[in-house]
Amino acid sequence: MRVVISLGGSVAFAEVDPSVIEAHATAIGRLVDDGHEVAVVVGGGPIAREYIAAGRALGADEVRLDEVGIAVTRLNARLLIEGIGNIAHPWPATTYAEAGQALRQGDVPVLGGVAPAQTTDAVSAATAEYVGADLLVYATSIDGVYSGDPASDPTAERFDQIDVSRLLEVIADIEMSAGSQSPVDLLAAKIIQRAGLRTIVLDGSDPSAIETAVRTGSHDGTDVVVDGMQEPAEW
Ligand code: UTP
Repeated sequence: MRVVISLGGSVAFAEVDPSVIEAHATAIGRLVDDGHEVAVVVGGGPIAREYIAAGRALGADEVRLDEVGIAVTRLNARLLIEGIGNIAHPWPATTYAEAGQALRQGDVPVLGGVAPAQTTDAVSAATAEYVGADLLVYATSIDGVYSGDPASDPTAERFDQIDVSRLLEVIADIEMSAGSQSPVDLLAAKIIQRAGLRTIVLDGSDPSAIETAVRTGSHDGTDVVVDGMQEPAEW
């Protein structure tokens, strides 16, 4: 199937650890070996946050800080590309068209950020829409979508499955409280809804969990479903 994997910066780039990056790259390579078409979007993680904080202290405006964040995501993308090796498009794709073209040629495009005022959550959903993906997987540091922010709300419960319209409500509630983090942001959820993207949100710290989710549809995270949507034919 055609799949977009959103690899959170906090998952694969919490530290710059080649063994972690290698493990994710190897899992992606195995999916390609099995005939899946894979595009990957990588986040910035704590290193991006550190750079953005430093830039803010130096007086940079928010758009410039976003550009700093994008630069870090692309640096992370470069490392993943080195881990994936020859089957990867050789540099971070900077547009959806470039990613789509690489995929058509049989390469694995790796993107970081694309434009200011958004995150790689939205880039992942937009890439999936652009390439007509059968599946979008958010490999995050949270093991699914919760009814609240599990970090601050002990009553928050994880959804095994959630309809995208309910997902939009849940994210809007979480994002209303300062400092709270949802595993997928609002813009991304809106793109998922408009494009009808079959989506999985899972804990991506174990690359084999991502692999299993793509191969079989089984995982310990949350299935995001859109009304009337078909399941991928391979499952
Ligand atoms: P991330 O996608 O990693 O941001 O991009 P995040 O969601 O805040 O990080 P995690 O998932 O919690 O680790 C890092 C930063 O890069 C900029 C934003 O400033 C973002 O916070 N960015 C990224 C953009 O401006 N545009 C993009 O398309 C992507």
